[in-house]
Amino acid sequence: MLRPTGLTDRQRAIVGSTWLHRAKEEEKASLRYGALALSLEKHHAPNEILELCLRAARDEAEHAKLCMELAHEFLGQRADQATQADVVPAMTVEYSEQQLTWEIVQTCCLNETWNATLLGHIYQRAEWPSIKRAARTLLADEIWHSRLGWSYLNALSSKGSLNWLSDHIVSMLKSSGAKEILRDETGDELEAYGEVSGATRRQLFSNTFRDVISPGLETLGVSTSAAHAWFQIIGDRTDRA
Ligand SMILES: [Fe+2]
Ligand SMILES: [Fe+2]
Repeated sequence: MLRPTGLTDRQRAIVGSTWLHRAKEEEKASLRYGALALSLEKHHAPNEILELCLRAARDEAEHAKLCMELAHEFLGQRADQATQADVVPAMTVEYSEQQLTWEIVQTCCLNETWNATLLGHIYQRAEWPSIKRAARTLLADEIWHSRLGWSYLNALSSKGSLNWLSDHIVSMLKSSGAKEILRDETGDELEAYGEVSGATRRQLFSNTFRDVISPGLETLGVSTSAAHAWFQIIGDRTDRA
């Protein structure tokens, strides 16, 4: 396979590691959607939601392969060596209806919405062809995975109040890696290869929460005021650091 020659070994390792990490995350996401689909069926979720979830499990398995191809392109055989030690365990999770809702909000409404924004940015800025193509493919699917969450919440909101979720949004943000994103110091030297600088990542993350996630949750009766306050505190600390 042709490998990018305009980069130093260190730069190739950075880009390759990003896609290797993504491949592992996609593999875990596929298993997570498989477990969520079983749980949705058990809790008699609408058919179209179940279909979206099964589709997401298949998509993520394909994404894992695609990300692995990119890891190979930049890391060569080192990508195989790095994955041999990792065995992702199968998920056998029994969710109560409330746990299922928590998991779907975290996975789809937060993580996938954020992912879609990030991939949209990578697609716009990347110049290396295989990375640009991969970002476009992933983006098209992640938007559907995000819709799964919003459709599920919408269906639930017609059955009862979702206000109980208000107390959990901050902890969901923390589990989404928000703290790490808000403190990320990566530079922008590899933007053409799909890397995103810490400053841009911070801005995209905050904007996505403010402009997309928060209004979506508020419309469904979930208060996000505690989350906005948390963003403010973390942002202030980052500015002072
Ligand atoms: Fe994915
Ligand atoms: Fe996804």
